[in-house]
Amino acid sequence: MRTHVVDHPLVAHKLTALRDVGTDSPTFRRLADELVTLLAYEATREVRVEPHDIATPVSPTTGVRLATPKPLVVPILRAGLGMLDGMMRLLPTAEVGFLGMMRNEETLEAITYAERLPDDLAGRQCYVLDPMLATGGTLAAAIKFLTDRGADHITAICLLAAPEGCERVEKDLAGLDVPVTVVTAALDERLNEKGYIVPGLGDAGDRLYG
Ligand code: PRP
Repeated sequence: MRTHVVDHPLVAHKLTALRDVGTDSPTFRRLADELVTLLAYEATREVRVEPHDIATPVSPTTGVRLATPKPLVVPILRAGLGMLDGMMRLLPTAEVGFLGMMRNEETLEAITYAERLPDDLAGRQCYVLDPMLATGGTLAAAIKFLTDRGADHITAICLLAAPEGCERVEKDLAGLDVPVTVVTAALDERLNEKGYIVPGLGDAGDRLYG
């Protein structure tokens, strides 16, 4: 697994405002949306394209277009939903599938409560959206879900990640023959005893949706 921390002053600026406890929900939603679009630009660096012939007003030329099958974008409900519009702005023709997962706040293990994904993901590139990579249980389970159905290239976009979570995902996916990249705005210091990222930004779902 590769972890890519996007090092850009605008990303850092928007993330700082997101972290701020004084940022209200409407502003938090707007900042998350803007931040995802910036991260998505980096995260789609390996999106598959194919040659495409066109004519400009001046001459014929060959460019590229998104390859078929189209990429699948998978927001993890509920907080990942706050990242969907920002992602679709860059990949408007992508297909969208949904995974509902929540963390049991006592055991910190992920529970899947909803799933609406294509049955066959053979040969598909998938973009998983989840703002927080904390213990890593949710992301590891989501990636297994997708690769069990045949997805062959996974990129997760997380606003924040904890080192413990990255290690857990790497460990849980050991032996998986599918490239996995985590793109994040920051790799924070650690998790606290409640499994929250420190310094983090609190509970992303609550800050987005109350
Ligand atoms: C949060 C977050 C991730 C998960 C991360 O979701 O949005 O999905 O926890 O934790 P982990 O890395 O320790 O698994 P939560 O369970 O709070 O659900 P919500 O999105 O519905 O608020």
